[in-house]
Amino acid sequence: MTFLNDLYPENSSVTQLFSIFMSIMLGFVLNAPDVRAAGVDAAPDSLKQAFVDDFLVGAAVSRSQIMGEDPAAMDLVKQQFNTLTAENVMKWEKIHPLEDQYDWEAADALVAFSQANDMYLAGHVLVWHQQVPDWVFKDADGNPASRELLLSRMKSHIETVVGRYQGKVQSWEVVNEALNEDGSLRQTPWLDQIGADYIAKAFEFAHRADPGAKLYYNDFNLYKPEKRAGAALLVRQLQEMAIDIHGIGMQGHYGLDNPQMSDFEDSIKAFAGLGVEVYITELDMSVLPFPDQADWGADITVNLELNKQYNPYADGLPPEVAKQQADRYAELFRIMLAHRDVIGRVTFWGVNDGHSWKNGWPMSGRTDYPLLLDRDNRPKPVFYEVVGLAGNR
Ligand code: G3I
Repeated sequence: MTFLNDLYPENSSVTQLFSIFMSIMLGFVLNAPDVRAAGVDAAPDSLKQAFVDDFLVGAAVSRSQIMGEDPAAMDLVKQQFNTLTAENVMKWEKIHPLEDQYDWEAADALVAFSQANDMYLAGHVLVWHQQVPDWVFKDADGNPASRELLLSRMKSHIETVVGRYQGKVQSWEVVNEALNEDGSLRQTPWLDQIGADYIAKAFEFAHRADPGAKLYYNDFNLYKPEKRAGAALLVRQLQEMAIDIHGIGMQGHYGLDNPQMSDFEDSIKAFAGLGVEVYITELDMSVLPFPDQADWGADITVNLELNKQYNPYADGLPPEVAKQQADRYAELFRIMLAHRDVIGRVTFWGVNDGHSWKNGWPMSGRTDYPLLLDRDNRPKPVFYEVVGLAGNR
């Protein structure tokens, strides 16, 4: 304090103030270890814990994971998530490959795992135009099945699958990807052979099979204003018919340039305005360039030849790209937190980067980094960015 007294010999209040300031600072320094320890204890180390007061957080799991071939991934699943989705094993071609034959092995195992670990199970998916065996749409002569035949097959499939898991699968994506990018109904065998009411029928059958299950419509690119309008119209029409529809699943499948965050938020608001819940059902964020700047969302029929130019990070992700992704993920989560009253769950489409379908689409053999956990199941910097938002709403 001597130097202060020298500088301000006549002003003892300055020295008093300085000594008060120094005592406070000293107190901070001495107490710092306790403060840091408390901070570490309080910092969530899992996604489920970080957002426990906001929404469920989950992942899609593959057949090999479900069947115990990747125990490290399933340990991580238990640690990080409180809801699961079958990435493939509940799809029609997997669970009901032949008319008189169901294959329950993997789906039953997933249900058992979810129950044993007290996790919410989201059913994916009942009526889709992909991954449906050919026999479903054909009659005995190989001609397109009639409306009546196709409806009866849809009813029987839904009753059997939803009925088997009544009370164990808490929600079902009843109809998937029924819309074109402009919001009109997609031309599929379901639409061609049954008519536009195939959607209402699917929801009716599902509700009857499990009146307690949450039922929703699921699609990609629902941030696009035209497609958003198409989905909203669909929901309104079902509501007018007094059909039970509880939510809309916005798949996700985003990139570094799309969507615009305002479009994403506008869709959440628009769907919430219909009185239904919003689920983010298949979240991932590719860091790779898209050929021709095209944006197919998640159309799995797109299959391009591998080209090095579109696989720039085969040897690792540059920190500046990782940062760009982390910023966008944080922005997405900030928006979701702002709408946590209407968002029921957020599910990542895969457990770690190595599992993601994005490594194989729209061309196979690429190295993408779309999730929050790396190929060795370790949290990436983006993970900490996201869990760091907890409590920051
Ligand atoms: O199970 C067979 C295996 O027996 C065979 O040896 C192998 C040979 O290719 O194929 C295996 O099936 C693959 C299946 O994934 C399981 O790994 C299919 O070929 C492959 O097309 C299928 O891809 C899935 C795709 O949907 C089509 O069903 C992806 O894993 C899955 O991530 C993706 O998920 C979809 C959602 O269901 C709906 N929204 C879009 C999303 C991304 O496309």
